[in-house]
Amino acid sequence: MRDYKRILVTAALPYANGPVHIGHLAGCYLPADIYVRYQRAQERDIKFVCGSDEHGVPITIRAMKEGITPQQVVDKYHALIKESFAQMNISFDIYSRTSNKIHHETASDFFKKLYNDGLFEEKETEQFYDEQAKTFLADRYIVGTCPVCGNPRAYGDQCENCGSSLSPEMLINPRSALSDAVPVKKKTKHWYFPLQDYENWLKEWILEGHKEWKNNVYGQCKSWLDNGLQPRAMTRDSNWGIKVPLPDAEGKVLYVWFDAPIGYISATKELTNDWADYWCKEDTKLVHFIGKDNIVFHCIIFPAMLKAHKNFVLPDNVPANEFLNIEGEKVSTSRNWAVWVNEYLQDFPGCEDVLRYVLCSNAPETKDNDFTWKDFQEKNNSELVSIFGNFVNRTLVMMHKLCAGKVPPLHTDVLDEDDKFIIDQIESAKKKVEDNIENYKFRDALFEVIDLSRKGNQYLQKKEPWKKVPSTQLPVTGDQKSIDNCLHLCLQLTANLAILINPFLPGTAKKMLHLMKVVDKMLEWKNAGKIKLLSVGYSLRAPELLFRKIENEEITAQVEKLKNGLVASSQLPETVNPEPATIQPPNKSTIQYDDFAKLDLKVGTILSAAKIEKADKLLKLEIDLGFEKRIIVSGIALHFKPEEIIGKQVAVVANLAPRKMRGIESNGMILMAEDSNGKLHFVNPDSLIENGSSIT
Ligand code: MF3
Ligand code: ZN
Repeated sequence: MRDYKRILVTAALPYANGPVHIGHLAGCYLPADIYVRYQRAQERDIKFVCGSDEHGVPITIRAMKEGITPQQVVDKYHALIKESFAQMNISFDIYSRTSNKIHHETASDFFKKLYNDGLFEEKETEQFYDEQAKTFLADRYIVGTCPVCGNPRAYGDQCENCGSSLSPEMLINPRSALSDAVPVKKKTKHWYFPLQDYENWLKEWILEGHKEWKNNVYGQCKSWLDNGLQPRAMTRDSNWGIKVPLPDAEGKVLYVWFDAPIGYISATKELTNDWADYWCKEDTKLVHFIGKDNIVFHCIIFPAMLKAHKNFVLPDNVPANEFLNIEGEKVSTSRNWAVWVNEYLQDFPGCEDVLRYVLCSNAPETKDNDFTWKDFQEKNNSELVSIFGNFVNRTLVMMHKLCAGKVPPLHTDVLDEDDKFIIDQIESAKKKVEDNIENYKFRDALFEVIDLSRKGNQYLQKKEPWKKVPSTQLPVTGDQKSIDNCLHLCLQLTANLAILINPFLPGTAKKMLHLMKVVDKMLEWKNAGKIKLLSVGYSLRAPELLFRKIENEEITAQVEKLKNGLVASSQLPETVNPEPATIQPPNKSTIQYDDFAKLDLKVGTILSAAKIEKADKLLKLEIDLGFEKRIIVSGIALHFKPEEIIGKQVAVVANLAPRKMRGIESNGMILMAEDSNGKLHFVNPDSLIENGSSIT
């Protein structure tokens, strides 16, 4: 590892075209915040920058939808987003915005530098134009019928029904997604960045030099680089954005993916006069936290821009997360299938840390993951309340009962195996948490913290200090020594838990400091692993619960809200990332034939299907595999009624390890295809075949 003197952490600038949802938090802002809080506790020189991305098509679309100006859109959502982050305790050093003057200047200057160095290629091409909306149309904003599968809602860059890559010319009956007008071709001039010239350098820098990047990130980069890079237009026809700083560029603005990442630089400039230390000195560690749809921009395009400009540091790592689904379905902002952070905060006041906990322990670090309200409740009630909170509470209650509210002494002459074990656990937890955080494994890190509190509970349970006879007389009795040792160690463990949980649940750490009557300084990371954090004889406050139980009614209400809020699929593509990259890289990394051969895929027939009580998404299926009948629990209940699927043939993963769901053992899995709207379809043989036939 290199020796770094300072760290600069960026979190993707969210589009100011809507509120943030929990998928955003889980994907990027929460892991970034955990990392930063940990580094600050390590007393490292670190800056954490972010801001609103206020340019580009997403903003103009939202303005059209709401019948207001783009400026009104960004003003409204910038304020809303900023507030949500603040309430969730995301501790940016600055939350800026790309409409700021300093950003316009920085991005303009960046463009001019590349222009003056003769890097851009000026090209005139014909592009589709919407005469009604008076605007050029990005491929994504042209819809029509797919020439391959006949889907009437294919986009100009891709058909999400059959997955074909398309160009607008290929669509049958193309229309503008904005006005429904028939688009016409019109000539336009743009400035292209020669991305292909950086291909070899990028291959070397990433594929050779950054093998340690996460698999999902490395894999996507490799797939882009293997496909070959093309010149990329860095300007657009629009009147919303940063004007192209050249004469003769009327109606042209910088491409939003050119200006937005430069926003990281502008935000740092706004934050500190020493900004250049963070951006230009080799011993800076630059880390970009993003979601997976941003990988190509942060790993390929922006680094190439920085390289072309010269004198900037490049990212040391780009720990991108995958996506978080909600109740088994893809987040869809246009269908309102999302949990909005501002609404969560209203519905669960004071429960910021609960959301942080659930999102981190279930973070989509290596693959897409699912958020369900039931799981939210379970994690709160059976982990935060019953394990972590319970340990801290019992410790404090007992020290008040058995030790007069003061930290008891440690009698080293009578330490037994259990005491030594727990001391060892306290001492070793620090490194485990630390290594995981340094390697961007936040779930594992958090697990270690909870695990330490679980061990604390077990220790307490084993020692049963409440069964001993306390005595205030001298000399100290054996029973009192055992009580003292147990509670002394539980209290030191509590202090350690405060330090270790602080990056993840800062509000909880604060409450713990209050209970222990100690100052913030105790949370410095170097204190972790120490057994002498609380001095003997020091009196602590009476216990207060750290977490409350979450009731069934609250959960039912949230599930209802989600379903009731669902709106029919809108005409427009998603607002999340409407400027996708033109090549869609495969989203999983390559596997060897042997990996595939491990799967035992069979054809089976659904004999019966039944709803499972209190599990909206699950159906219990009985499947005939020819050689045997099996029970499989499948998450398809929101898509099919039990009676419609009986008799259908399906592909079955027959050798999947059994798994219990809702008390029912599921033996295998059925395969379904998911379309772009998140709807499931059967993939079955073209005619009825014998059950148990292998799929090879
Ligand atoms: N606004 C983009 C999105 O939400 C992210 C921009 S990140 C930056 O997908 F690097 F461009 F700033
Ligand atoms: Zn198609």
